[in-house]
Amino acid sequence: MLHVVILAAGEGKRMRSALPKVLQPVGGRPMLAHLIDSVTGLSPDQIHIVIGQGAEQVQAAFPEFNGQWVHQTERLGTGHATRQAMPQIDADARVLVLPGDMPLVRSSTLAALLDEPADLSLLSFMADDPTGYGRILRDAQDRVFDIREQADASAQEAMVKEVNSGVLVARAEDLARWLSALMPKNVQGEYYLTDCIGLAVAEGIRVSGVIAEDARELMGANDRAQLALLEAVWQGRCRHQLMVDGAVLQDARSVYVNGHVSVGQDVVIGPNVYFQGEVVLGDGVTIGPGCVITDSQLEARSKVLPYSVLEGVKTTGAVSVGPFARLRPGTRLAEGVKVGNFVEVKQATVGVGSKINHLSYIGDAVLGEGVNVGAGTITCNYDGVNKHQTTIDSGAFIGSNTSLVAPVHVGEQATVGAGSVISKDVEPNQLSLTRAPQKEVKGWKRPTKPSS
Ligand code: UD1
Ligand code: MG
Repeated sequence: MLHVVILAAGEGKRMRSALPKVLQPVGGRPMLAHLIDSVTGLSPDQIHIVIGQGAEQVQAAFPEFNGQWVHQTERLGTGHATRQAMPQIDADARVLVLPGDMPLVRSSTLAALLDEPADLSLLSFMADDPTGYGRILRDAQDRVFDIREQADASAQEAMVKEVNSGVLVARAEDLARWLSALMPKNVQGEYYLTDCIGLAVAEGIRVSGVIAEDARELMGANDRAQLALLEAVWQGRCRHQLMVDGAVLQDARSVYVNGHVSVGQDVVIGPNVYFQGEVVLGDGVTIGPGCVITDSQLEARSKVLPYSVLEGVKTTGAVSVGPFARLRPGTRLAEGVKVGNFVEVKQATVGVGSKINHLSYIGDAVLGEGVNVGAGTITCNYDGVNKHQTTIDSGAFIGSNTSLVAPVHVGEQATVGAGSVISKDVEPNQLSLTRAPQKEVKGWKRPTKPSS
């Protein structure tokens, strides 16, 4: 039986933030969300999350978590935090304890630690800069005999580069015994989980210290600088995965993923592209430089030209968007649609082959097939109180600089003359226009400057 305990009650003082530390994002998701994913991969019998500082905020961030929330009412250290979970854990269960601020650990690394044939196993790593981590102390036979926190370390101990990840595995019965024997006799006056190692060694228990191959997945984040390091590692992983899945990243280091992107093959992603939320890109999609794409699904061979911003967009065929287009939630584009520069589209369905090429606002609208929307067309969807719908049927041609005052309906194959303000429905197959007739003023002269 496997129980997992995640320690997430700490204040995270060093983060200097109103947001509890475990909710600080990496790749756009709370650190704790990453950890829950990793431990869920182990199919444990129960997950216990110890919360304290900002407990309500942390719980609210995980409405679907179906493990146990455990409350630590005072912040007395990692040992004290772990102890709060023990009453809910069977004596013969194995317990995996993890700090809540190390989001990059992989399931496979944890699984390997669980396979260790020892009574107490801990995961360590070699740090170029061990500052802030507990140092692993080994005897002449290379056996771990203690962990020394930075604050309590002698100058010599502080030089040790093997550091504690904070992850350990033990039998519940043993762990509960060590935890109740902990004393806060250290510089910070805390009950250190790490002191369990010394207690176990004193009992003659076999301790196994596993040095992780990839130190980067065990880094913790106590402050913003460490959080930035974790972010960089995470982004590296996301970029690598995109390339493994078949995407070309023209300047990989400048592509950011805050969420999850799935790509078909031969997708091309330009420099400085930001993805957020859930993004799906079909085969051969190209995303030009400087685009921001959020929660969108683009079908195969769609092209997003440079500096376009898309959110909540779905295409049902290959489309061309941009450069400099802004597509807002509820945009639905069919095969062959073109949305050009300085066009904003919101809550609108655009039918096969329709074009909105320049400087337009199309909001709360349904466009049929083969519609041509001229430059500077505006759907006047808002009367100051309510939003209204514009419908443009297939084959209609809207002349440049037209205002469509919604609610309004333009019939099939209708033509609207440039510069019109359309506030009544437009008949199909007709030319409608509201333009004032052009007139010539005979004998009019341009003003001239007074002669001095
Ligand atoms: C801890 C370890 C250190 C290790 C490092 C790895 C101890 C004493 N030290 O130090 O050896 O190298 O992690 O990143 O264990 N927490 C609680 N309640 C508390 C205190 C902390 O739930 O009373 C939680 C925190 O929210 C955090 C985790 O425990 O998620 C670790 O606490 P933190 O303060 O980050 O410990 P470190 O100083 O990083
Ligand atoms: Mg920490």
